[in-house]
Parts: sequence; structure tokens; C-alpha cells
Amino acid sequence: MNPLLQKLQPYPFERLRQLFAGVTPPANLRPISLGIGEPKHPTPAFIEKALMENLAGLAVYPATGGEPALKQAGAGWLARRYGLKVDPATQLLPVNGSREALFAFAQTVVDPANDAVVVCPNPFYQIYEGAALLAGATPFYAPSDPARNFAIDWDQVPDAVWARTRLLFVCSPGNPTGAVMPLEEWKRLFELSDRYGFVIASDECYSEIYFRDEPPLGGLQAAAQLGRSDFRRLVAFTSLSKRSNVPGLRSGFVAGDAAILKQFLLYRTYHGGAMSPVVQAASVAAWNDEAHVVDNRALYRQKFAEVTPVLAEVMDVALPDAGFYLWAGVEGSDESFARDLLAQYNVTVLPGSYLAREVAGRNPGTGRVRMALVADTAECLEAAQRIARFVRERRALR
Ligand SMILES: Cc1ncc(COP(=O)(O)O)c(C=O)c1O
Repeated sequence: MNPLLQKLQPYPFERLRQLFAGVTPPANLRPISLGIGEPKHPTPAFIEKALMENLAGLAVYPATGGEPALKQAGAGWLARRYGLKVDPATQLLPVNGSREALFAFAQTVVDPANDAVVVCPNPFYQIYEGAALLAGATPFYAPSDPARNFAIDWDQVPDAVWARTRLLFVCSPGNPTGAVMPLEEWKRLFELSDRYGFVIASDECYSEIYFRDEPPLGGLQAAAQLGRSDFRRLVAFTSLSKRSNVPGLRSGFVAGDAAILKQFLLYRTYHGGAMSPVVQAASVAAWNDEAHVVDNRALYRQKFAEVTPVLAEVMDVALPDAGFYLWAGVEGSDESFARDLLAQYNVTVLPGSYLAREVAGRNPGTGRVRMALVADTAECLEAAQRIARFVRERRALR
């Protein structure tokens, strides 16, 4: 067996199952889960139709590099969304969702020699850590700062760690915080990448769900604005899962540094990372349409506008920049909050400490819970009302 497998941490939902073992939720309240970040708005009919109309694609092996039509659709979207000029032949590759791509990317770019480090935010999407460990690197966790809208405090990464860093994962909009990285933060990270030579993987799968007027700045867009139109040492990861409500389609793409993507294509050829032609055809339809994305965003905006104030009355929570999570402060332990909430009100939330690691005696997820507002507005509102009652009753008991 690969000994590195032993280093993997239990996935947060496994820990949640253990936490909830033996809890019997009240049978008179229907269960509501704000636990898993799985999009639940309906898949647009035109994407389903495109899938059905292209079933003939099942009869052929796809090329790993992707069909020109898909690459063109991705580049077209980058041009419309970010004003970018990307060469679809060399600067863009389809991937089967961003999860597998984030993992595979670490295997491609990390040379594990000389105590390699992979830096990632804390809290973070769990794949970053597993990808780093299985690539033979040591993860280093940079904390998010609640005093600055959960921006990552990159100053907490010592120079000696940057010097060993091969890969930096960034996540903007962030999961779970929803924080969007501004241009100055990108500038700082590009300077560090230039100085130390590490690659930046920019995870942007929540980019189309936002609550401010300005759409979130993309990593490639930041690079272009700073005169780095070759996107050196930068690759952005995007996905249809949240944008188009197709988490089961498994479709996204990566774009950026052509030299890195050439190596990534080589890795993927051996790994077997080609996308089904049926999925490619449906993805072309999805990337080429923006109306459904606008409608989807409007649904989230309405939902967050209704739900957030109900929760803000009883807990430390505010509308995020973007994404579909609320990252809320609770009184006392986040684990007992989640367990007691299930036991008393049949609502599932995820303890924040499960999404972060303790560094220097501090876990930046402690005392917070993540709530995924993915169900419809009525269900999320009912969950929020139950949570508000739960918190008020708890306070009265103290
Ligand atoms: C931050 C982040 N990145 C990537 C993913 C992977 O999404 P997908 O593989 O569906 O593109 C997720 C999924 O929840 C996520 O939260």
C-alpha cells in the first residue's frame, strides 16, 4: 500500500457521521440539511437536452485535450466574463469537475524533494490537503482573519516556508468564508511566486454566485490587469457544477500558464482524465449560455436576503461576498452546537473546526459553523427560524 494514504484525514462528513451517532432527531420535524455544499437548484432543461441529443458520443473514445468546440466555448466565456484573451489550444484544458483537477494538478506540479510544502488557506476545501499529502508534500495552513472579512493572513507564512513551497492553493470566492481576493492580494501573491518560484492554483468554482455589485475578480483577470498576460505559474480552475447546477455532470476547465498545462495534459493522458464527448457537448451549451446563470444568481440573492437577517439576530453572521455558504460564529463549541441542533431541531450544519486544522494551538474554524444555503428559499428560511429558536432557548438556559 502507498504509505501516504495513512496521512489522509477523515473527511468532514465522516466526522459528522461520528458526531451524530446515537442522536435521535425529533420525528415531528422534517430533516433539513445545510451540511453538504451540493447545488440543489434545478438543472436547466437545455443542458439536459444537449446531453440527450449527443448520446452518439458514447461510441467513441474522447481525446484528453478536449474537443475544439469545448475549448472555444471555455475561452469565449473567459473573454465575456473577464475580458481575457486565452489561446484555447495551449492555455485551456477540460477537466471532469474541479475536484479531480485540483487533486491531479498537485501530482503534476509538486516535486516532493527537499521538504516540499503546499500552502493552502485555513479553513479550506479538503481536497487541497489530500492532494498535497499524496504528492509527498507537507501542507502549510495560512489562517483566515475574521477581523478582515476572513481574508487570508499570508503574513503568517514564514519566509522559510515560502522558500520550500511548490504549490499554493487559493480559493476565491472562498469556501467556507465566501471572501473574494482583491487585486492587491493577488499582486502580493504574484510577487511571492516570482521570488520563490511556486505555482498558484486558483480555485474559482463559486465565481458566479455573488452578492456584491462587482463580480468577483478572477485570478487570470488579476494577472492580466497586472501585465502578466502569459499567466506565468498561474492556473485557474473553474466548474459548471455551481454555475449551472450540474454537480453530477462533472465538467469544468483549467486555464493559464501554457507550459504548465502541457505537463498537466501529459499527466492526464496517463491518468485517464478525458471527458466524455456527451458531457463535452452539454458543457458547450452550458458555457455558451449566460441567461440561466443570471437567473440562478438571482435565486441565491433572494434566498440570502431573506435568510441572513433571521440568523444575524441570534448569531455572528453577515452576507458574504460570494458563494453559497454562511460562515457563522456560535457561542460555545461548534461541535456541540451542531449535535444539539440536530437533536432538538433536526437541522444539520457542519462544525467549522472540521474544515480547518489547528496551527500554533489555534483552529480558525473553532466556534463557527458552515451553513450551505442550497435548498429552496422556503426550506432554508425554515431552517433559519429553527436555528434562531434553538439559539434563544440555549441562551435562556445559560
Ligand atoms: C472550494 C471548492 N472547490 C472545488 C470544488 C469541487 O467542485 P466540482 O468538482 O464539482 O467542480 C468544491 C465543491 O464543493 C469546492 O467547494
